Amino acid sequence: MFRHISLIVLALSIATAAQCSVNPGKQSVISESTSAELLYLHRKLIETESITGNERDVGQWLAAYLREKNFTVETQEVSENRYNILAHGSKRSTTILVSSHIDTVPPYWPYYHNKTTDVIGGRGSVDAKGSAAAQIIAVQSLREHLRDDLSLLFVVGEETGGDGMRAFSSWSERPQPNYEVVIFGEPTEGKLVCGHKGILSFALHVKGKAAHSGYPWLGVSANDVLTEALGALLELRANGLPWSEKYGNTTMNFGKIEGGVAANVVAETASANIAVRLAAGTPNIVRGLIISALSDVKTRLEKLGGDLEIEWAGEGYPPVNIDCDIKSFETLTVNYGTDVPLLAGDHKRYLYGPGSILVAHSDHEALKKKELEQAVLDYRRLILEASRMDHQYQQEL
Ligand SMILES: *[C@@H]1O[C@H](CO)[C@@H](O)[C@H](O)[C@H]1NC(C)=O
Ligand SMILES: *[C@@H]1O[C@H](CO)[C@@H](O)[C@H](O)[C@H]1NC(C)=O
Ligand SMILES: *[C@@H]1O[C@H](CO)[C@@H](O)[C@H](O)[C@H]1NC(C)=O
Ligand SMILES: [Zn+2]
Repeated sequence: MFRHISLIVLALSIATAAQCSVNPGKQSVISESTSAELLYLHRKLIETESITGNERDVGQWLAAYLREKNFTVETQEVSENRYNILAHGSKRSTTILVSSHIDTVPPYWPYYHNKTTDVIGGRGSVDAKGSAAAQIIAVQSLREHLRDDLSLLFVVGEETGGDGMRAFSSWSERPQPNYEVVIFGEPTEGKLVCGHKGILSFALHVKGKAAHSGYPWLGVSANDVLTEALGALLELRANGLPWSEKYGNTTMNFGKIEGGVAANVVAETASANIAVRLAAGTPNIVRGLIISALSDVKTRLEKLGGDLEIEWAGEGYPPVNIDCDIKSFETLTVNYGTDVPLLAGDHKRYLYGPGSILVAHSDHEALKKKELEQAVLDYRRLILEASRMDHQYQQEL
């Protein structure tokens, strides 16, 4: 099944990969030894639990692995015991940066590799340790060919708002303000992502007045008010939020609702946590729509002596357009957020990774061995084509 690729063949295939428009990656294979290294790396990353906040061990393991492969490894402390990892060769400032995240969502699921089906699973197998492992193998195989002009960046905290990538963006020791090309890894089913929706998250906090449920007129039910507020948001959601051809409808998820203490008590407090995925417009526009949708409920409540507070969770960001101008890849748009908008700088950006987002945060997170192997070839192709375009661009200048 797997042909061993000699260095010469590898060099040839790399040289032609950049020129061939008919999906050269799909016809290639990776050698058995490269595949074994890929699977080993993927397994070790998964076996080291790294739920957001607990990335220390996986970071240490990965730093040691990369040093052994002769990368220069730098670490950036993001918060106590949590480190971003930057790896590069002879150059610290490079044209190309390849990046993914090393944290995962909870809970932990152990690694498995079913040799009959060649399905590999476990927490992070798809999101995003599949990307990380394939990126490392791809970069390692291209270092000589691209004169070591490649860096790798693995960040913490992507799953809970991106504190790792934010910290890298504003790092005083950051190698350079700009890369020319940055390739991000997240599960994209092996396709290039042309963009993803924006996000705006917020919480509603309602304060009413407690009373005996037999005498509700003596209190102000925070649960009633929250229900009305959510009703107003449902109406907004049904026909008042911006949409676009590219990303479809803006969606709004009432992710968590809490209120009151018991059936026989008029609820004093209630709250809801809500995430909006923006298909168009800006967080500011949508904030305005939410405030105005809630204004009647808020005014009525205030007259009764209660309070409705909207707590915005961060600034949010509008839909993120991503470069997908490499012809030999299939493309798609996605509805999840990424670190892509959080890396400051004026660079071309690509988003690609093995595995499907549809299983990513589930208890059956898994992908096929061949998806992982294909990702190595695809990352190589992506890096080569992206860097070639960049060189053309320089010639035009
Ligand atoms: C790392 O560099 C050393 C010394 O140059 C060399 O012996 C070794 O093979 C290299 N290892 C890898 C994985 O490239
Ligand atoms: C591998 O997957 C097949 C098909 O789902 C299943 O029947 C088999 O029990 C699995 N093997 C192991 C070792 O889990
Ligand atoms: C967007 O919402 C409208 C109704 O508000 C619905 O008819 C349409 O199917 C939705 N589009 C998508 C892509 O979900
Ligand atoms: Zn991810």
